[in-house]
Amino acid sequence: MIRLKNILSEVLQQEQVDILLDKIRNKQYVRIGAGDNGVVYEISDTDYVFKITRERDEFEVASVIVGRDSEFKCFIPVVYVNDSEKMYIMKNASELPIKYKQMIDNFYARYTKFALDMQGEVSIFNYLDADGARETESALVTFLRKLQQEIIRTGISEFDLDLDFKSDNVMMFNNRLVLVDW
Ligand SMILES: Nc1ncnc2c1ncn2[C@@H]1O[C@H](COP(=O)(O)OP(=O)(O)O)[C@@H](O)[C@H]1O
Ligand SMILES: [Mg+2]
Repeated sequence: MIRLKNILSEVLQQEQVDILLDKIRNKQYVRIGAGDNGVVYEISDTDYVFKITRERDEFEVASVIVGRDSEFKCFIPVVYVNDSEKMYIMKNASELPIKYKQMIDNFYARYTKFALDMQGEVSIFNYLDADGARETESALVTFLRKLQQEIIRTGISEFDLDLDFKSDNVMMFNNRLVLVDW
């Protein structure tokens, strides 16, 4: 049974997305960041950004998590995906505090060393299962264990191996760590 409350919230979300798409059409945005694959723009007078990317796999993930924030709390909420224009709209995240940046940079360095020692394809979760959980701050371990569950929930094969868990891909949203790039 579909509840009225759900119908209303879908209508409101669609209206919100239409407003955002109008702003994009009217060029009401400013470039705020760029990385290896994409460019990110802030949509003026909103708390949303959009990303144009060349990475095919990024859409696969964005298409799975779109509109499902309550199930994917380790990811920045995605509200709209346009595959043909290689673009998606997500919430504007805030900067990662330096203490988390350092934690993640150190974690990533230990994981890279572990992967080299293992001489094979290993994910950050394989490292956590080995020495990682013991060598890492518990706040980060808690986040990574939740992230692991959510990655499984996407059903995307080898997502764990492909994941680019670097500190510039992690930001804050509602006082929580979130991935803004995957
Ligand atoms: N949802 C977001 N909110 C705020 N800033 C973002 C968001 N997503 C990305 N950015 C900024 O844009 C930069 C590049 O985005 P990213 O998605 O990492 O691109 P790439 O795929 O090229 O690495 C990030 O490092 C960050 O500074
Ligand atoms: Mg990135």
